Amino acid sequence: MRLDKFISNSTVFSRSQTGKIIRKGDITVNGSVIKKSAFKVFENDQVQYLGVGINMPKQRYIMMHKPKDVVCSTADGEHQTVLDLLFISKRDNLHIAGRLDIDTTGLILLTDDGQWSHCITSPKHQHAKIYHVSLADEISDEAIKQLETGFTLKGEDKPTLPAKVEKLESKTILLTLHEGKYHQVKRMLAAVGNHVEQLHRQQIGKIVLDDGLKRGEWRLLSADEIKLS
Ligand code: URA
Repeated sequence: MRLDKFISNSTVFSRSQTGKIIRKGDITVNGSVIKKSAFKVFENDQVQYLGVGINMPKQRYIMMHKPKDVVCSTADGEHQTVLDLLFISKRDNLHIAGRLDIDTTGLILLTDDGQWSHCITSPKHQHAKIYHVSLADEISDEAIKQLETGFTLKGEDKPTLPAKVEKLESKTILLTLHEGKYHQVKRMLAAVGNHVEQLHRQQIGKIVLDDGLKRGEWRLLSADEIKLS
C-alpha cells in the first residue's frame, strides 16, 4: 500500500494533511525518514509519526441485509446507497462484492480487502449465490430443465452455467447460480417465459445472511466466514 494511503487509513489525518507531514519529514519507515507519498509499505514495516508507531489498518469484512430502494453504489444523486446505511469511519474505502438491483433484497458483502472481494466475485472461483425467487407464473418442469441445463441469454456469447432449482411452491423457487451476469436471475426467468416479482439473496459461498439482521442492518463477518477456501 502507498505510504500516504496507509497513514490516512490508519489515523485521523486526511490524504492532503498526510502529504504535508510526509513532505515535512515527520514519518519514518523502519527507522528511515521517508518523504515520498508513493513509497510502498508492507505488512511488517514499522511506520512512525514523530516517533509514535502507526499500525496497519485492519481490513473490514461486512455483511448487510440490503433493503429495497437502496442502491449498491458508492454515490447516487437520487437514492440512498448501502454506504449511507453504514455508520463507520472511512466507509468510502469499502467496495461492494456482488451488487444487487435496487428492488432486490438480501445479502451483500462489503470490504476494503480488494483481493478478497475479487475472489468472491470472480467467475473463476464460482462461489454459489442462492436466491429466493417469487415468480408471476407457475414454474414449469420444462423451465426448470432449461435453467438447470443452461442456455445463451440475449446479448451474451456463452451459455449460462448450469443452475440448481429447488421448487418451494408453484411460484417460488430457490435458485443457485455460480456466476453473476448483469440482472442474471431476472433475465434467465424472463427467457423461460416467466417474470420475477421478488428477489432476495440468501447466501454467497458459505456465507449465509444472518437471520438476526433486519433490513438495512449489518454486522462484521466472523473469522470463519472470512475464510472462504
Ligand atoms: N440477478 C438479478 O436479476 N438481480 C439481482 O439483483 C441479482 C441477481
